[in-house]
Amino acid sequence: MAQAHSDPLWWRDAVIYEVYPRSFADGNGDGIGDLTGLRQRLPYLARLGVDAIWVTPWYASPMADGGYDVADYRAIDPDFGTLEQAEQVIAEARELGIRTIVDVVPNHVSSQHAWFRAALAAAPGSPERARFWFHPGQGPRGDGIPTRWRSDFAGPTWARTRNPDGTPGEWYLHLFTPEQPDLNWRNPEVVAEHLDILRFWFDRGAAGIRIDSAALLVKDAALPEVPAHPGPGEHPHVDRDELHDIYRGWRAVADGYPDTRVLVGEVWLEDRERFARYLRPDEMHTAFNFDFMARPWEAKELRESIDQTLAAHAPVGAPPTWVLSNHDVTRPVTRYGRGDSSFSFAGKRFGTPTDLDLGRRRARAAALLTAALPGSWYVYQGEELGLPEVEDLPVEVLQDPMHYRSGGTDPGRDGCRVPLPWSGTERPYGFSPAGAARGPWLPQPTDWAGLTVEHEEADEASMLHLYRRAIEVRRAERMAGSLGDGPLAWVDAGSDVLAFTRGDVLCVVNLGPEPVDLPPHEDVLLLSGPLDAGRLPRDTAGWLRTTRTNTERNPGPGTQPGGVTRR
Ligand code: GLC
Ligand code: CA
Repeated sequence: MAQAHSDPLWWRDAVIYEVYPRSFADGNGDGIGDLTGLRQRLPYLARLGVDAIWVTPWYASPMADGGYDVADYRAIDPDFGTLEQAEQVIAEARELGIRTIVDVVPNHVSSQHAWFRAALAAAPGSPERARFWFHPGQGPRGDGIPTRWRSDFAGPTWARTRNPDGTPGEWYLHLFTPEQPDLNWRNPEVVAEHLDILRFWFDRGAAGIRIDSAALLVKDAALPEVPAHPGPGEHPHVDRDELHDIYRGWRAVADGYPDTRVLVGEVWLEDRERFARYLRPDEMHTAFNFDFMARPWEAKELRESIDQTLAAHAPVGAPPTWVLSNHDVTRPVTRYGRGDSSFSFAGKRFGTPTDLDLGRRRARAAALLTAALPGSWYVYQGEELGLPEVEDLPVEVLQDPMHYRSGGTDPGRDGCRVPLPWSGTERPYGFSPAGAARGPWLPQPTDWAGLTVEHEEADEASMLHLYRRAIEVRRAERMAGSLGDGPLAWVDAGSDVLAFTRGDVLCVVNLGPEPVDLPPHEDVLLLSGPLDAGRLPRDTAGWLRTTRTNTERNPGPGTQPGGVTRR
């Protein structure tokens, strides 16, 4: 542990656990997860073995988008606790060897943020409005929408204001909900404010920042329509070239601290070369690799994604990240149990047929695959318990704007945000303390008794045991220079099988219908499921120890690709 504390390159192969605080643990019994609950459960995370937590927004917020509508970046929402408690989370986690990454939302603020309230109260053309994208409407009466850009949350991206006398006024831009007005990143005040927010959290011990919607901040000031086939850098509000200077400024702030502070970008981009630009040495450290997550459970697809990911990262020297789930996407146990096991926001529909036993089996294999790939590994809370997506939440409890802005066709993201089951056989399964005044903010299913932490701790065959063991073996092997950062070499094992070595560890995953022989090995380190007469069954993965030879060994923790010295 002490060694991990001082390692400046810890982030290159860390296991990072995403905490969605509303749904993690409720300390005071109001049915909403909070920082007291998070502090109480830190030992659980230490026992799981993670290197860091990423906590999704805990700031003061009206919760129009689960906290991604921030009213004050320097205050904790009263539902979650206090700033002092946030500092305690950071300090106590660190005592347990766990770093904390906080979530910064730079693209937009809440419509309740002081800046936006001041902008609404000020006149068109005022400096208060210049921090946002206020614009007159088209046509003589100004009632024509300024652009026809579509929101990621469905619908238009502009809302019209009212003047103090009640007449309709200017429009303002919101790429997400109208409660999330977009900031104007050409405004120097916006730039300066965020540098200060970064310092605020770094000064409180945050080891890193997760950058929300990182590729959206800059807009083409001419406000053109989105071209039918935008070339690189031509989209009016995605991946604009000017973004890179912003992140260079952020990196300079991060690098101003004596120990490493990392920048992790949420960058949804199909163009891998453009994606990798954000990871140049003076920009972000890493960014989420959503391509891998979105692929179906097929050997060819996954191998292609792995190859493309490694190839895209190599020129910039940044390690990839591997993600199976987060608070925005369908949980893997459910996703992998479907006829179409790929993920897309547009494809989500109520009532999709799902085989959860198949999904669970594949999710176990997927965990070992993901954990064996070079780079850092993100685990979303509840993934380690094998929680399924909750697909039968009553429609009236759904809170996600992705649901109601779709006109009710998209189930939204609440199904992956249901509060965690910790113990006991009855709801709320220890999420809230005994005798809590209110039930969890989203109701848990009545059949989760077998998925609680308590229950899975007692069951050697549980998903929790698999994750703990995988993290433990991964940690030991990365110290030895195998799993974690470093090269990967494919081993040919047939078209339905993914097999590759990391030093003297071989990861093999059978995605085909029939059992296969295990490649030559000396020892079995870990399996996602039992062997079948010594063979690896379908949808099963294993980590094997191959013969130790010097040429197969990675350089070890002392050296990194690109000549970076590890310690
Ligand atoms: C990111 C977040 C998501 C949020 C959106 C708008 O994609 O992960 O939860 O709704 O940004 O802030
Ligand atoms: Ca609470």
